[in-house]
Amino acid sequence: MTPIFNFSNKTVIVTGAGSGIGKNIATLFAAQGAFVYILDINANQAEEVVREIRDTGGKAAAFVCNIAQKADVSAVFEQVIKETGSIDVLINNAGIAHIGNAENTSESDFERIFQVNVKGVYHCIQAVIPQMKAQGGGVILNMSSVAAKVGLSDRFAYSMSKGAVASMTLSVAKDYLPFNIRCNSISPARVHTPFVDGFISKNYAGKESEIFEKLSKSQPIGRMGKPEEVAMLALYLCSDEAGFITGTDYPIDGGFLNLNT
Ligand SMILES: NC(=O)c1ccc[n+]([C@@H]2O[C@H](COP(=O)([O-])OP(=O)(O)OC[C@H]3O[C@@H](n4cnc5c(N)ncnc54)[C@H](O)[C@@H]3O)[C@@H](O)[C@H]2O)c1
Repeated sequence: MTPIFNFSNKTVIVTGAGSGIGKNIATLFAAQGAFVYILDINANQAEEVVREIRDTGGKAAAFVCNIAQKADVSAVFEQVIKETGSIDVLINNAGIAHIGNAENTSESDFERIFQVNVKGVYHCIQAVIPQMKAQGGGVILNMSSVAAKVGLSDRFAYSMSKGAVASMTLSVAKDYLPFNIRCNSISPARVHTPFVDGFISKNYAGKESEIFEKLSKSQPIGRMGKPEEVAMLALYLCSDEAGFITGTDYPIDGGFLNLNT
């Protein structure tokens, strides 16, 4: 029987794979046979994930890359193509958080969120598409958020950025249908990662456990998601088995969007 979700001989790039959801995606894809390129701004974290993957017999390499910098992204993608001759899957996962409304979001914070969460995705998409066209196809998966779909309190810049990710997904899916490039997005509600712990401690010092509890309960299922649950969805969407899926966003949200009555 042919094994399902087989990524042997496939090259997969995961941005922000040094931590949280991206780390779990990288580890799972490597376990399914992929050669995973871990792109992260944090060199130590990226190297640590590569070590963990290699220790379990997987194939991975790390590149330090600030996705907000076009030159950085171009250089890394060129290097990957030189090494492998193909990029089968690009997962645009790296992203940063911000708390604030339209009045108290500073211009510099707005710019920073835009540079990473929007332009970072644009840079990687632009760097990968010529290669995917040349090789006859590929898969792009973007990390959006439920923040792109409902009004979340105090998430002005972050929601803007994830809305842009959702619409870039549709645009790419449409434009590259003739080139056999599929493009989808995932919209998690709260997932328990260092991203969440980081913004709780930064923004709610002294009230960490109270806020953690509140954020857990905001999913009707009563808890936050696990990064490995998001990784499973990513694995399916990027697999050959999902060949009929393009131009779609997949919430993974413990009932957040439909059951919060
Ligand atoms: N955790 C959640 O609740 C949640 C919910 C919805 C969507 N998301 C999205 O999922 C993605 C991953 O989130 P996470 O919770 O795993 O975050 P995380 O903070 O644990 O990991 C993000 C990784 O991205 C890297 N990174 C940050 N800026 C970068 C840059 N400029 N260039 C390259 N790498 C960079 C970080 O070093 C880190 O390793 C993000 O896009 C986030 O917006 C997360």
